[in-house]
Amino acid sequence: MELARFLHGSPDHRTAGATITHGRAYEVLSATFFLGRRRAVFTRLAQLSGARPGDRVLDVGCGTGYLTRAMAHQVTATGSVLGVDPSADVVAHARRLAAGLTHCTFADGIAEDLDAADGHYDAVVTSLVIHHLPEPLRERALAEMMRVLRPGGRVLVADFRPPKGRIGRHLVGAVTGPAMEHNPVHLLEPLVRGAGFADVETGDLPLIRYVRAVKPAPAR
Ligand SMILES: C[S@@+](CC[C@H](N)C(=O)[O-])C[C@H]1O[C@@H](n2cnc3c(N)ncnc32)[C@H](O)[C@@H]1O
Repeated sequence: MELARFLHGSPDHRTAGATITHGRAYEVLSATFFLGRRRAVFTRLAQLSGARPGDRVLDVGCGTGYLTRAMAHQVTATGSVLGVDPSADVVAHARRLAAGLTHCTFADGIAEDLDAADGHYDAVVTSLVIHHLPEPLRERALAEMMRVLRPGGRVLVADFRPPKGRIGRHLVGAVTGPAMEHNPVHLLEPLVRGAGFADVETGDLPLIRYVRAVKPAPAR
């Protein structure tokens, strides 16, 4: 149960959600959790985001920045990626891990109130974050992602997909707590559609469900 509390963090007064307070430990646990498949999964997520060389990308709830760095490779040094997270400790750790990747930067930030101008980004990605947010904040977070994307920009939302079998689910619950054991990952797609995104596609990777979509261009 302590591990569950650690993984799902401490309540944060700014977000009413739960932030992760130990970057180094989260990094080790996350690497272990994916059983050697983390690189493959996150490289694939970066490809699925549809971001291209030169694009400006935002990673919301970046944690220690694994996806942020994968996105930096995806957009190459002609593009830029900003990872934001409300936890000062994970942001500091993310900065250390990305040292040398000058087009990959990190800042304090919360999903439900993004500090960016309307239409600023070509792509927005977020992984393993939605289950950290209380339900009312999930819609606000998606509305913010929509706002900061340019028309035609792409969103990729990925979250933990609990195992189908009862025993597997129970094991996940024992280690990580109820938020992941019962993660209602089937609600991701309606969440993205509800925010007004178009061309919505859903798929599964090991341990992950992703939804990707496009911000519609305004009608002429
Ligand atoms: C399970 S971690 C995922 C980190 C990273 N995206 C990854 O895939 O490894 C969830 C992250 O969401 C962050 N978080 C919690 N509440 C948030 C909020 N309101 N806005 C943005 N991030 C938040 C936590 O601090 C934590 O770093």
